[in-house]
Order: sequence, then structure tokens, then C-alpha cells
Amino acid sequence: MNPFDQAQTMLQEIQEANLSSSESAEEFRIKFIGSKGSLKSLFAAIKDIPNERKKEFGQLVNQIKQEAEAKITAAKKNASGANKNKASDNDLTAPGVPYEMGTRHPLSLVKNEMIEIFKRLGFVVEDGPEIEDDWHNFTALNLPENHPARDMQDTFYIDYEANKLLRTHTSSAQIRVMEKQKPPIRIITPGRVYRNETISARAHCTFHQVEGLYIDKDVSFADLKQTLYYFAKEMFNSDNIRMRPSYFPFTEPSAEIDISCFICDSKGCAVCKHSGWVEIGGCGMVDPAVLTNAGIDPEEYSGFAFGMGIERVAMLKYGINDIRLFFENDKRFLEQFS
Ligand code: PHE
Repeated sequence: MNPFDQAQTMLQEIQEANLSSSESAEEFRIKFIGSKGSLKSLFAAIKDIPNERKKEFGQLVNQIKQEAEAKITAAKKNASGANKNKASDNDLTAPGVPYEMGTRHPLSLVKNEMIEIFKRLGFVVEDGPEIEDDWHNFTALNLPENHPARDMQDTFYIDYEANKLLRTHTSSAQIRVMEKQKPPIRIITPGRVYRNETISARAHCTFHQVEGLYIDKDVSFADLKQTLYYFAKEMFNSDNIRMRPSYFPFTEPSAEIDISCFICDSKGCAVCKHSGWVEIGGCGMVDPAVLTNAGIDPEEYSGFAFGMGIERVAMLKYGINDIRLFFENDKRFLEQFS
């Protein structure tokens, strides 16, 4: 067969080829344009073509090559499109690929548990802003300007002139609730607070508190004590707590809430500073001046308030000895709380 007829036959074969599967496309590729393919011999034949017909033959061979390549490209495109819908490529009986579940942060776990416990006593959850003003964080809580007790908590001011600060405790939410609700009030407000403190194993510049407030007729210190006992029993399965007389400007009388140290079984360790007791918060009977500031008549109503550190409770509960672990996002630490 002369090279021209040979080329024509090949062109026809290429145009008629039906490349419906990726296998047939591969066969086609090997047959025509592979390193031993028939196009190779056509190119090789060019040198034997008489000069006056060389151009014509060359163009024909090029056309064949382009058509063959276009055919393969189209077949490949088709095949990948078809695969998408082809169920047989997926083994429907294969076990699923498991994906890693995240875990709740220990502070969230403890916060939620605290909420559950106080809910059972009839407390409802309220919220307050983290960016506060002087009135709600200090003045209304019986901490007028220049009151020395303001130094108890080093404050981050966002804008001193504009009266914007980061709340130093959740007690600010007490005022907000009392301003908008009439007694009886029975609320807790969990949330984040900020203090300009040096970061150490025991202290951080940001941490979390759960504030509690109960205002009604004839609320007494005994109610406060019973509430805290109930909390300790539910949270730690222990009633080994004590209330140590203390001072807060917004409560009178005031007390510090201590719980016996679980980490060392009260034998003395770094967390309890070798005292066998760990302080988890403050509490007291709401000062009449605070009730008055918030528009509640102290002659008619009385109440108690408490504020507990969520980190402190979590450290005790899980035996964690460094508060910084809560904020480092170390997966190895967080994974333990699944
Ligand atoms: N706000 C106090 C603190 O952050 C705790 C507290 C709350 C004390 C309510 C008494 C009553 O230290």
C-alpha cells in the first residue's frame, strides 16, 4: 500500500474509533500515537516521499496526529465524567471512614454542670456584657470612686474617659438583673472576667465565674449556706466545705467559700498552698446599699450572692495544677475530657 493510502486508511480508522471506556482509549493511544504506534511509521515514511508531494503528505500526517490526540482527550474527559456517576466504583459495603470527634473544653463541661446543679434549685441563667461601665462593675456595688477596695481587682480599662472597662467580676451582672427585674430573683450568670494580673500557675488575666443572686422576702444566711452545701455535694460529692469570714463591699456579712482539697486529700499540696483547703469563691448577704442602688427596697427584701471561679472548680474536680493549661489549646490536654 502506498503511504498515501495507508494514511487515508488510518485517518478513517481514527475517525470511526469508538472510545467508550478508558481501556479502549488507552488501547487506541498505544496503537496510534504510542512510541511504537503506527503514526511513528507514517512520520518515518515522509523521507521517502518525492519532494513535490512531501508537503501534502506532511499535512495529512499532522491532521491524523491531531485528530487522534483530540479523540483521546475527549475520551478521557468522558471517562472521568462517567466515573462520577458510576456507583460501582464505590464499595457501598465498605465501613465508613471515621472522623475524629472534637471534645468539649473542660471549662464548658464544668460550667454546664454548675448550671445544671443550680437549675435544680430553681436558678435561671442570665447574661451580662463583658465590656462594662463603672456603675455596674463598681459604683452600684458599693465601690464608689476612690474606694480603696477597687484596688482588690486590677482593672483593664478600654477607655477610661469613655467609661468603658472589662468587667473584673460577674457581680456587675447582678446589678443589671436587679435593674430590670423585680424580686423574687433567683439567677446565675456564668461568664468571662478580666483582671490585670501576672499570669502564673494559679492566676490568669482572664478567667470565668459563675455569679449567683437570690433576692426575696426573708432570705437568710442559712439559705446561702444550704445552697453552697448542696452545690458541693452535687459537684464534688462532698460536704466538706467551710465559710471563712471575709470582706466584699457589696455583701454584709461576707465569706470566702473553701472546699477541702481533693488533689492531696487535704494532706497539703501546691494547689491548696499546703493548707488542705482551696478557695473557690466569695459570697455574702447582699448589702442593703446595693439593693437601694438597683432600685429594690432593702426594708422589704433581702438576698444573698456568691461568685465562684469556674477554673478553680475545674482544677479541683479534675486534679489540674496549672490554670494556664485551660488557655493553651493543647490537644493532648483537651483530648482527655471526652
Ligand atoms: N465578685 C467577687 C469576686 O470576684 C465574688 C463575690 C461575688 C463575693 C458575690 C460576694 C458575692 O471576688
